[in-house]
Amino acid sequence: MPFFRRQSLKTQLLVIVFLALLLPAAAMFYDIFFAAKTDDVLIHATDKKLTRIANLVHDQVRRELKSYPGNSQPLEEVFTAVTDPLIKHYPGVRICLYDKDSGDITILGYLHEFGTRLPEEKKERERRIYNETKAGINAVLASGNAISRLGKTYDDQFLERLVPLQINSRTIAVIWAEEMMHPIFARSSRMRLVIRYVILGVFGLGIAASLATIFGLVRRINIIKDGTVKLEQNLNYALPQMPGEMGQITSAINKMARGLIEKEQLIDQYRRSENLIAMGRTITEIAHELRAPVSVIQAAAQAMALNFQDLPRLDEYIQQIDRQVERHSKLINELLDFGRPDPGTIEKMDINELIKSVLTANEPLISKTGIKLNYPSAGHKPLVIQGNAEKLKQVFTNLIINALEAMRQNGVLTIESHAAGEQVAVSVRDTGEGIPPEDLPNIFEPFYTKKAGGNGLGLAICKRIVQIHGGSIEVKSVKGSGSEFIVSLPLYERDVMAVE
Ligand SMILES: Nc1ncnc2c1ncn2[C@@H]1O[C@H](COP(=O)(O)OP(=O)(O)OP(=O)(O)O)[C@@H](O)[C@H]1O
Ligand SMILES: [Mg+2]
Repeated sequence: MPFFRRQSLKTQLLVIVFLALLLPAAAMFYDIFFAAKTDDVLIHATDKKLTRIANLVHDQVRRELKSYPGNSQPLEEVFTAVTDPLIKHYPGVRICLYDKDSGDITILGYLHEFGTRLPEEKKERERRIYNETKAGINAVLASGNAISRLGKTYDDQFLERLVPLQINSRTIAVIWAEEMMHPIFARSSRMRLVIRYVILGVFGLGIAASLATIFGLVRRINIIKDGTVKLEQNLNYALPQMPGEMGQITSAINKMARGLIEKEQLIDQYRRSENLIAMGRTITEIAHELRAPVSVIQAAAQAMALNFQDLPRLDEYIQQIDRQVERHSKLINELLDFGRPDPGTIEKMDINELIKSVLTANEPLISKTGIKLNYPSAGHKPLVIQGNAEKLKQVFTNLIINALEAMRQNGVLTIESHAAGEQVAVSVRDTGEGIPPEDLPNIFEPFYTKKAGGNGLGLAICKRIVQIHGGSIEVKSVKGSGSEFIVSLPLYERDVMAVE
């Protein structure tokens, strides 16, 4: 059945029609043109023989009766005398007489060559045989014509030829000869019966198969219908797999839904990048406007420090102004970095050297926090990439500062680099507080921060710089045990000792 269902709908329907119509049609053809013909031939041959015998007996009995008009010899005796010698010549033929006046029956010979199979009384046999032939006798008596008919014994079929015996235009008796039909006749009619049952069975099966196919089709169509309704509400829903044409439809619909999802994502991405570009432009303008007053404040504070040295607590105020000016400068620089997507001057460099210089620059900060640095630089082979060194340094600086901010005194900062296929992967791992899963999708968004003095621009800048270098940045983090940021950049050359 699964094999059948895997076939195309057309094949399925053709097979069903073939089973339901062609096979029964062939059986009927055989029944009409062969089986019936065989019967005709058989009946015709037997009928010819029985007609000859019945006529012979009839003619002789009639002659006997006519040649002695005053003959008082009973009809039964004349019939027996005429028929007896014939019986030996025609084994299996039974010749009988029905005396209309007395209602007596005389039977000579047996249908079965070895005599009756059941021991039965003579009278009983006569009654049975009369009952079997009664319809024929009555028909002959009523019409006055000879007839042939098929009769049935308790276990078989026979053919009989009945002839009226007429004396002076009056039917006084019926003479008949009968013989079992050839066994092939019974077999062929049994065969026809079997064929009819087979035809019926095949018809039934055909109808059942058609109904099953139709119900199956309807069920699958309903699944598709319900599925499309669900798809309308949720494009991520997938219609179930199915065999045959229905399966092709469901896969086509699923493919279409996936295409729509991809398209929506692309449109979303496009909108976001458009927004980022627009935002970048605005941010750069604002940052430029902010830079001038901050520089003036810084210069004024420095002038105050020189000219009013004697004023009490001036140092304290000047330091406060410096701290705030520094914060503002940092914000302005970050804003300018974020707003300017241009990668600047591109050069070849060994990423390991770049990381070393970042670590050297941040050494005072790292040692101040008491955090252990784990940078297995020994045996480092150069991993050459192409890019803007200043911008890439900023990426690793931001990641290192975030890691330091996430850890307490006894934390460990691990930095590793290796080539992975056509890429260089640099991992910055800390043992800090980790990032809750619900925050992970947002940390690269501009202005997303969970820190009191944070601008939320560090990771947004990292992502931008890495992207304009043709790379990517990903994060793995477990809340409470640490985070790992992996920066992947296209590898320019591997194992090059000298970098220009
Ligand atoms: N290593 C880290 N461990 C834990 N949380 C982190 C880590 N790095 C980033 N985060 C989280 O991601 C947020 C965004 O980081 P991002 O560097 O963009 O901004 P920020 O550090 O808050 O501010 P700034 O603009 O000063 O860098 C942080 O506020 C922090 O919650
Ligand atoms: Mg940061």
